[in-house]
Amino acid sequence: MNTVLIGLQWGDEGKGKIVDILSSGVDYIVRYQGGNNAGHTVVVEDKEFVFHLIPSGILHKGKICVIANGVVIDPESLIFELEYLKKNGISIDNKLKISQLCHVIMPYHRILDKLRESKRAHKIGTTGRGIGPCYSDKISRCGIRVIDLLNPKVFKEKLKDNIKEKSEIFQKVYNHSGFDFDEIYSKYLDYGKKMSKFVSNTPLLLQEAVRKNKSILFEGAQGTFLDIDFGTYPFVTSSNVTAGGVCNGTGVAPTAIDKVIGVIKAYTTRVGQGPFPTEFHDELAAFIRKKGKEFGATTGRPRRCGWFDAVIAKYAVSLSGVGELAVTKLDVLDDLKEISICTGYKYKGKIFHEFPHDFEVLDNICPVYKTFKGWNKDTSKVRKFSDLPKNAVDYLSRLEDLISAKITILSVGSKRAETIFC
Ligand code: GDP
Ligand code: IMO
Ligand code: MG
Repeated sequence: MNTVLIGLQWGDEGKGKIVDILSSGVDYIVRYQGGNNAGHTVVVEDKEFVFHLIPSGILHKGKICVIANGVVIDPESLIFELEYLKKNGISIDNKLKISQLCHVIMPYHRILDKLRESKRAHKIGTTGRGIGPCYSDKISRCGIRVIDLLNPKVFKEKLKDNIKEKSEIFQKVYNHSGFDFDEIYSKYLDYGKKMSKFVSNTPLLLQEAVRKNKSILFEGAQGTFLDIDFGTYPFVTSSNVTAGGVCNGTGVAPTAIDKVIGVIKAYTTRVGQGPFPTEFHDELAAFIRKKGKEFGATTGRPRRCGWFDAVIAKYAVSLSGVGELAVTKLDVLDDLKEISICTGYKYKGKIFHEFPHDFEVLDNICPVYKTFKGWNKDTSKVRKFSDLPKNAVDYLSRLEDLISAKITILSVGSKRAETIFC
């Protein structure tokens, strides 16, 4: 059984926790897009792990974790993460496979990310990790791949071309001093050496796994509305987050995918700029942010918070063919007197239920809410769906109806045990 797990909102839905839980039942856990802009949290007992590049299944013994070709790798961040795991006694040697075809985030990508942001009238609020510029170079056909770092001759040629072009642009457009070839060349050759034992032909590896009927879990990063094609462009990331991204990002054919699970918070959050129709007023946002610890796992920025938006959720479900839902952070709503779900958007006197891509419309819509009575009970100790308060069941049933997908996992806390299988 090969399963794709994706975020249905603007990221940070709790994918890391759900991937960790599902990992015990699979053979391979595969990241297929994004880079170290992701921050996936897994809590085991009282210890919290945050993964940026390494698949969230790495804590399980006997699993193969793959960073597939669709991911962009910042070697510095990867090496830091490997050392962090080593320090925590987690073995990685035979478990981690990195695609030769992953594009590499170079120092000029990180710098360009920040410089571009500083010049934008409407800032995206990127993570500043160089993700956009690295994907831009990939598409412009001047990117440097992991396999290039392992071949000093090829790497030298490619880096020379890049530094020549980038230094000129950086000096003329951004008034930046440019880059030193020798320094970057020797540093990245060294990174290549450190990564080499993990590097392999991952499309072949995964195709072989499919042939042998092994089970694969594809771990999405970010969320549907950060997808480069379907998200709230330009306030998005630079990769295909939706289930469609799995095939390009791994070399596994669409016919090999059996199931798509969507991870979704019982409310909504967003980090960075861009439209957010159901965003709370300041007081409620502060309450939920505190209770839900809504601060970015990568940048530490406070996350914007809002009501559950069934319009975006329904769209996300159909974009990726989501059949099952993992709803997270229900416990965060425990103390509220009333809880709302956005069921439609009102614009110029008309109510509609489809997500609009026109910014003028998105900026001026008024969410239409269905409001529910809160349950005012601690759900974090509940382990059976039938033990949930009636008002919580009503809320969840309406949510399922509105977005046409079935809840199979319900999360009521960050720990592994704080999970209900429905
Ligand atoms: P990801 O990027 O989708 O993996 O999500 P993050 O790890 O960035 O953010 C989710 C945060 O919520 C993490 O701090 C998790 O430990 C935490 N979390 C996950 N599920 C639950 C839950 O059901 N309840 C609560 N209170 N916290 C949760
Ligand atoms: P996980 O996998 C939440 C957001 C950034 C910014 C936009 C573009 O933890 O859910 P980028 O650096 O990618 O060019 O930034 O995307 N963003 C995320 N928001 N969770 C993430 O990942 C994110 N990765 C990127 O805040 O708005
Ligand atoms: Mg996150």
